[in-house]
Amino acid sequence: MSALRFDPPLYLAPMEGVTDASFRSLVLEENGPGTVGAACTEFLRVTDHPLPLEFLRKELGPPPQQDRAGLVQVGIQLMGNKPDAIAETSVLAAEAGAAFVDLNFGCPAPRVFQHCAGSALLADPQLLERVVRTVVEACPIPVTAKIRSGIEHDRDLEDIAKRVEQAGASVLSVHARLRADRYSDPSDWERLRRVRKVVSLPIYGNGDANSPENIARMFAETGCDGVMVGRGAMANPWIFRDYARRLAELPKIEMGVAQIVSWMGDYERRMLERGATPHQALGRLKQAFKALVKGAMLPAAEEQRKEFLRLQAGDDFLQAIAGLSDSSVPQS
Ligand SMILES: Cc1cc2nc3c(=O)[nH]c(=O)nc-3n(C[C@H](O)[C@H](O)[C@H](O)COP(=O)(O)O)c2cc1C
Repeated sequence: MSALRFDPPLYLAPMEGVTDASFRSLVLEENGPGTVGAACTEFLRVTDHPLPLEFLRKELGPPPQQDRAGLVQVGIQLMGNKPDAIAETSVLAAEAGAAFVDLNFGCPAPRVFQHCAGSALLADPQLLERVVRTVVEACPIPVTAKIRSGIEHDRDLEDIAKRVEQAGASVLSVHARLRADRYSDPSDWERLRRVRKVVSLPIYGNGDANSPENIARMFAETGCDGVMVGRGAMANPWIFRDYARRLAELPKIEMGVAQIVSWMGDYERRMLERGATPHQALGRLKQAFKALVKGAMLPAAEEQRKEFLRLQAGDDFLQAIAGLSDSSVPQS
């Protein structure tokens, strides 16, 4: 097992359709050095043949500022059920500049599940172990794994965690939900405590660590070595900085509408620079806007929200949001 330490032990979760290189680099840079230790690409599906190097490079994107300073490690997440093709891709991932390769055994999507990939491998712990081992043996950089707690039940959770460790993975991220749970609330953190007890590799807990308070609670209540944050970082892209300031007993930095609109403008620019069409970029901006409203970062009432979402140009959309008044930001 290659040693791999994320410092600080906070990890921006991979989210397909959200954490592309534009969003990822923006979140890492905006939270600031020393607030996030790790991130990785959305899952990249490997079928019969290895993925091309250029594709891996593009998905990884240029290193964010902290990465250049050696402060955050960015990996490539691979998903599939063909050990050799994944192993060959993992070698190329290292060449593309990834700090580690993460193996996805959690994706619940039917189109993935039917092809016996993602969370489907939880039903075949031997194959899961073989995938991890084959990749670890081939790959020159550390290999990590991310699992859901089971498909319909969690009875095999400890066995799977031990297999991942025995196969040589450096870190195991555990999403405290079953496939059958989808995204229902709350996730069951007892599962994290159970895994923590039976293996010695670093465990990253995941599921509902959606506020600085809940990140602290996950550390305290589960004994996990690290915490992985998914939707919480969509609702509040500054959640890692907020958590770091909470730890340091510093006051939270409140974000006004103007700063958030500027963030969205930066996000749009990064997407366009990376080749997104204006229409695609607007779709992602709308997705971000919905999450920010949900996270009470933007004060849009229901009618306004609907009206803004009907706008068809990025400039009009951002201008409309800029017209919101700070004074109505709900205080959390
Ligand atoms: C839109 C979306 C896309 C996701 N895509 C991925 C993915 O590509 N790879 C992965 O391992 N998990 C993926 N996940 C799962 C998240 O990484 C995470 O495990 C899950 O959201 C639970 O964490 P949270 O409660 O902090 O959001 C995705 C989740 C969401 C909501």
